[in-house]
Amino acid sequence: MPKPIDYPTVHIALAERSYDIAIAAGLLGSDAAWAQLPRAHAALIVTNSTVAPLYAKRLEQALAGVYAQVHTVVLPDGEAYKNWETLNLIFDALLGHGCDRHTVLFALGGGVVGDMTGFAAASYMRGVPFVQVPTTLLAQVDSSVGGKTAINHPLGKNMIGAFYQPERVVCDLDTLVTLPQRELSAGLGEIIKYGPIADMQFLDWIDTHLDALLARDPKALAHAVKRSCEIKAWVVGQDERESGIRAILNFGHTFGHAIEAGLGFGAWLHGEAVGCGMVMASHLSQRLGLVDEAFVSRFTALIERAGLPIVGPKLGADEYLHHMRVDKKAEAGEIKFVLIDKPGTAAVRGAPDALVAQVIDDCCAG
Ligand code: NAD
Ligand code: GLY
Repeated sequence: MPKPIDYPTVHIALAERSYDIAIAAGLLGSDAAWAQLPRAHAALIVTNSTVAPLYAKRLEQALAGVYAQVHTVVLPDGEAYKNWETLNLIFDALLGHGCDRHTVLFALGGGVVGDMTGFAAASYMRGVPFVQVPTTLLAQVDSSVGGKTAINHPLGKNMIGAFYQPERVVCDLDTLVTLPQRELSAGLGEIIKYGPIADMQFLDWIDTHLDALLARDPKALAHAVKRSCEIKAWVVGQDERESGIRAILNFGHTFGHAIEAGLGFGAWLHGEAVGCGMVMASHLSQRLGLVDEAFVSRFTALIERAGLPIVGPKLGADEYLHHMRVDKKAEAGEIKFVLIDKPGTAAVRGAPDALVAQVIDDCCAG
């Protein structure tokens, strides 16, 4: 009999695609975390060359009690490998091991592994179940939740993918101990995002507890992960496939994706590009008269304290605009931004190119 569930969970309510996010320290080694998994003969753990030596054994051992066969495929590490070639390594492993259509995929790693594993699960034999086991802060608070899966194309970020929900998300907070500080900051960027788009009280809490978060205080991290997942659950539960409110989760991403694509994927971390992109989007919100200077200053200071860049790379306004026209929110070539309407609420809006170009010039350095 599995032990009773005694860890915090956040529920994603999506009718027959509903699932829970388990959030606690030590879940990788706890029987209870692996109860209620989809039944199958085999499981395939998808991980990468950095995470495998740290955590693959533990997950293999936990799953050995659930599945007759547990296979592992180790991908090269990095955003630059989030592409067709690497995705194919997952299919090679599935087919090479004779995996059937009930095989359960486990994404053990950060957002890159999670997004690729989810896409592989969505398409292998037209769909097999998968479980997210996020090991970065960014993946625990954002990418493992909500069912967006994708790979990059050289011409644009996350351009090829599917909406495909996991069966379960298991966030072991202990895995954050080995995360490099730069990656921790990248995750803080996505946590900070939830404040101005949905919950200014949470932004106040982050402001007060930022030093504790940067020092990896377990209680502070546990609260930040849980509250972030709750906000994401609230948004995704209303709009699974981003036909409306879900777009607010892309605050900072129009500028951020342009930075990532413009510099080449992997030069800046996704969370760094989003952090700086949120600063740029705040400036644009101010120029449109939506927020005041005090908000922009406070928000910029918080991003900087979190260890994230607040000045964008000087790619030139034309290059930014070029990449932003490829963004998934663009409609008939018109660029769309998530802008802060008033602190705590956001909306998708267009803006004149000339104004956007001014913001880019003001916010970017050589
Ligand atoms: P990542 O997956 O590249 O992981 C960051 C680095 O940390 C990698 O080198 C990884 O190997 C390493 N790592 C992972 N866990 C570790 C651990 N516990 N200890 C030590 N090292 C560890 O990056 P990320 O920031 O997790 O995710 C970014 C990706 O997520 C981007 O591709 C972005 O597009 C995607 N994303 C997707 C969504 C979504 O909704 N699907 C949302 C946000 C971001
Ligand atoms: N990270 C944006 C979303 O999940 O919609």
